[in-house]
Amino acid sequence: MATTEKLKPAARVSGQRQDVWTIINEAAAASPKQPIVNMGQGFFGYNPPEFILDAAREALGRVECNQYSPTRGRPRLKKAIADAYSPFWGREINPETEVTITTGANEGMLSAFMAFVEEGDEVIVFEPFFDQYISNIEIPGGKIVYVPMSPPKDGATVTSSAANWTIDFDALRRAISPRTKMIVLNTPHNPVGKIYSREELEIIGDLCVKNQILILSDEVYDRLHYVPFTRIATLSPEIEKLTLTVGSAGKNFYATGWRVGWLVGPPDLIKYVAAAHTRICYSSVSPLQEACAVAFEQADAHDFWSTSIRDMKSKMDRFNSVWAELDMPFSEPEGGYFVLVNMSKVKLPADYPFPPHVASRPRDFKLAWFLIQEVGVAAIPPTEFYTEKNALLAEDYIRFAVCKEDEVLELAKERLRGLKKYIE
Ligand SMILES: Cc1ncc(COP(=O)(O)O)c(C=O)c1O
Repeated sequence: MATTEKLKPAARVSGQRQDVWTIINEAAAASPKQPIVNMGQGFFGYNPPEFILDAAREALGRVECNQYSPTRGRPRLKKAIADAYSPFWGREINPETEVTITTGANEGMLSAFMAFVEEGDEVIVFEPFFDQYISNIEIPGGKIVYVPMSPPKDGATVTSSAANWTIDFDALRRAISPRTKMIVLNTPHNPVGKIYSREELEIIGDLCVKNQILILSDEVYDRLHYVPFTRIATLSPEIEKLTLTVGSAGKNFYATGWRVGWLVGPPDLIKYVAAAHTRICYSSVSPLQEACAVAFEQADAHDFWSTSIRDMKSKMDRFNSVWAELDMPFSEPEGGYFVLVNMSKVKLPADYPFPPHVASRPRDFKLAWFLIQEVGVAAIPPTEFYTEKNALLAEDYIRFAVCKEDEVLELAKERLRGLKKYIE
């Protein structure tokens, strides 16, 4: 039955074109190459370590862990996070006033936008962006002002560090207006794998202090860095005053389905984020908050953080060894678990039967479709994370998530070798 005018859905959900996840999942389901090796979405192909799973099992058996948590989060988890972040801040973080727990980093960021963005306020976002930022900013009526990151000039021919994806700081200065309320930063970066240098963060931080702009620093991949990692909040007291730092238990502890996240920041910012969070979902999952508290408390004793870096870096290197065989350049990630590979050398057959919803999108969508159909590997086209205006910057790249079992990475490599016949 046709939807009557009065009952029609809101424009924010009804007018959307098919999103990248649906396109890729549908393509994967329809591919003749089954089962597909899925290196698309950034979920882990393995479990958190036993000491963390044990903590979750134990929490489920406790009466108070199966009931509402305080809206700002369980005291034990706030304390564990404050203790974990204090060494980076060089002072004691107050768990009661400077930490708030959210339902994943994503809802934490929605709460931050709901807390500070009024209709018509501008929020600066770098492209490529994590796609949830956009709708989360639009919900309270924010206007997004985009500043693109550019790939390295020789990205089609040479493998080099993801550090070489750069921001045009003059474009950033031009993007700032009297209505700029907030800037969203993501380091280590998804999908680029870049870690912003101290110098880059100083430029951004100083601009925010000068223009009184809040900084939402999405650091969900903070525990996966292969080069030194600087947190913008720690650069100066003036910058710290403006900064909300975002974290994710999903990314830290290989448990993206647990939906536990947090924000760390000054009390006069955190209290409004917590107020918004209370209105959005009241409080977050209790037993898994308790398990995350134990995970933080016991991480050092289990040498978890360094093992986590070592394991992911080894997955990264294992998978990326295939690109030398194929003579395809990639951006060497400095952090996180995604890698962008430049596939400009892959020649797509002129008469290939791409469906219309893929044919109408930039080349990376066609590449992703082709990979699924011809070699049986699913990956993500990164122009989904650019506006149409700037999408061409990234249309030769494809994003692979390496947070998968080693056997899956080996199978993916074996299949990707099948691309040889299409390489010029
Ligand atoms: C950059 C970035 N921020 C935030 C998130 C969401 O984190 P969470 O699962 O804790 O909501 C993701 C997940 O992919 C991400 O890549």
